[in-house]
Order: sequence, then structure tokens, then C-alpha cells
Amino acid sequence: MGGMSMPGMSMGQESPVTTALRSGDATRGQALFDVHGCAACHGAGGATAIEGPKLAGIAASTTPETMYSYIKNPRAPMPDFHLSDADIADLVAYVDALTPGHTLAADLGAEHPGSSTDAMKMGGMNMDGSGTSGESMAVAPTVYPLDQAAQTEAAQGPFLGIETGDASSGAALYASNCQSCHGAGGAGADGPKLIGLAVSVTPSWIAWRIKQPTPPMPDLHLSNAQIDDLAAFIETLGATPQHAGAPMAGGGPKR
Ligand code: HEC
Ligand code: HEC
Repeated sequence: MGGMSMPGMSMGQESPVTTALRSGDATRGQALFDVHGCAACHGAGGATAIEGPKLAGIAASTTPETMYSYIKNPRAPMPDFHLSDADIADLVAYVDALTPGHTLAADLGAEHPGSSTDAMKMGGMNMDGSGTSGESMAVAPTVYPLDQAAQTEAAQGPFLGIETGDASSGAALYASNCQSCHGAGGAGADGPKLIGLAVSVTPSWIAWRIKQPTPPMPDLHLSNAQIDDLAAFIETLGATPQHAGAPMAGGGPKR
């Protein structure tokens, strides 16, 4: 969208997506949510996991920009609705506001959900717009750096208890089921690299990917508890996205 005008306000290097999102309107987004049948998979008001995750609550652990890119480039089973950027902005405004204490306007300042831990305690206000978030992606987070608090209330469908996943069990499951395609330590092989994935997505997103894989990734018919463990393991691979050789940094999960 080269034609987008830069607001030229406080955020010097604002991305075009962020700029597009600034015009998102939650009321229009609600209408679009109904028109496009999003509720069939996400429940009325995004409140129930059906074929997709519950959306109420996700704003605590993801960014508007990430939601935008999910809707723009969804993966099966979520269909591509071929929506305009303006329509996606409206939908993101609506989905973002489904999480108590969140609005698109407030969340647009937060570059990475990692910086929103304090903000959540502050009732969703982004008090931390100035600082740390850019660098924080390179700093090794603990397991579930952001999502643990966020998901206590926010049901993620079958993965409601995902923060209890055990990374060492997940590592064993990974070695026997996944490593052949995703490489040792998630370094990538026939399947994509998993190192660093957790920096930009939530554990439940990872879990849904495993539960409802896109071919050629097979459905391995794992239990939800096993998937929780795998997601916990994959979170540890996100700890050192800049240092792909050291996926198991820290010697195991901390919680
Ligand atoms: C056929 C089922 C289906 C429909 C219809 C659907 N989705 Fe989804 N959606 C999913 C699934 C499954 C996911 C899980 C994430 C993934 O695997 O990409 C998802 C993920 C998402 C996410 C990311 C959730 C997260 O955890 O960050 C958003 C936002 C979203 N959908 C919004 C929408 C909107 C808005 C619509 C309507 C325009 C819609 N979806 C319609 C199935 C669906
Ligand atoms: C037969 C090879 C194969 C096996 C086995 C396999 N995967 Fe995959 N996986 C893939 C491929 C290929 C993709 C990319 C699919 C796509 O284009 O969406 C993928 C995608 C993923 C993704 C999403 C990555 C992303 O960046 O979107 C996750 C997470 C994942 N796999 C985890 C696992 C886990 C955990 C296991 C073991 C339980 C596993 N995979 C087993 C081939 C495999």
C-alpha cells in the first residue's frame, strides 16, 4: 500500500500495516465479522472456540499487526476472505476490543506483546510505549513470556490449560514425531524452521497448527495434552531466535 500517508506523529518508523490499522473501526468490524461468518469458527462475538480459537482474550498476547497478517494471509482451515486492507483493519479493531481492557488505538503503540505485561496490569493501558520492546525480542524470555497471565481467563478452546504444558515431555514427543521434518532443535529441514516462531505467535496458535496441520504436515492425532507439551517445547525454541544453534538455552523450562 505505497499510497498510504504517514501520519508523521510520534512513531517515526511506523509500518504501513500500522498506518492502515489506524483507520480500523470496531463497529464496522463487528458487521464484517457477521457478514463473513467468522462466528462459525470463532463463536458469536469471538467468544467460543469451534473450528478456530476463541478470539476474545487474544489481544493480551498478540499485536494488532499480527492479527492483521493472520487475516490477510490465513492458513487452512481458516479461509482467505480476500478482504480489503480497510476491511481487515475494521475486523482487527473489533477483534482487539473483544479482549477486556484493550482497544486498537491503545494496542497500536505496543511493538511486541512482550512489552504488554505491565500494561496488562495497568488495565490494558500501554504505559511503556517508549523503550525496551524493540530490543526485547533478542533477549531470551522464559517459557510463556507473555501468554501465561494472558491466558488464565482467555479460553483458547481445547488449549485452555496450555501454560501447563511440559517442555521436556514436549522435547521427547518432538524427537519422535516432528524432528524428521523440522530438524533437530527446530532448525528446519523439509518442514519450516520452528526456532523463533514463538516470538511472533501465541502458544495456542502453535497448538492449533499442530492440531489442524496444513498439508504436507500430517495430522499426528496427538492428544491436546501432548500438543500442550509440544507448544511448551516450541516456546523454548523461541528463546534465542538470533542464536539458532542454542535452542535449549537455559537447560529447560522455567516456570
Ligand atoms: C473455517 C474456520 C474459520 C473461519 C470461518 C475463520 N477463522 Fe479465524 N482462525 C481459524 C483457525 C483454525 C485459526 C487458528 C490459527 C491458525 O492456525 O492460523 C484462526 C485464527 C484466527 C486469528 C488469529 C488468532 C490468534 O490466536 O492470534 C484471527 C485474528 C482470526 N482467526 C480472525 C478471523 C476473522 C476476523 C474471521 C472472519 C473474517 C475468521 N477468523 C474466520 C479458523 C477460522
Ligand atoms: C512430514 C513432515 C512433517 C512432520 C512429521 C511434522 N511437520 Fe510440522 N510442518 C511441516 C510442513 C511442511 C509445514 C508447513 C505447512 C504449511 O505450509 O503451512 C509444517 C508446519 C508446522 C508448524 C507451523 C510453522 C509455521 O511457521 O507456520 C508448526 C508449529 C509445526 N509444523 C509443528 C510440528 C510439530 C510439533 C510436529 C510433530 C508433532 C510436526 N510439525 C510434524 C511438516 C511436518
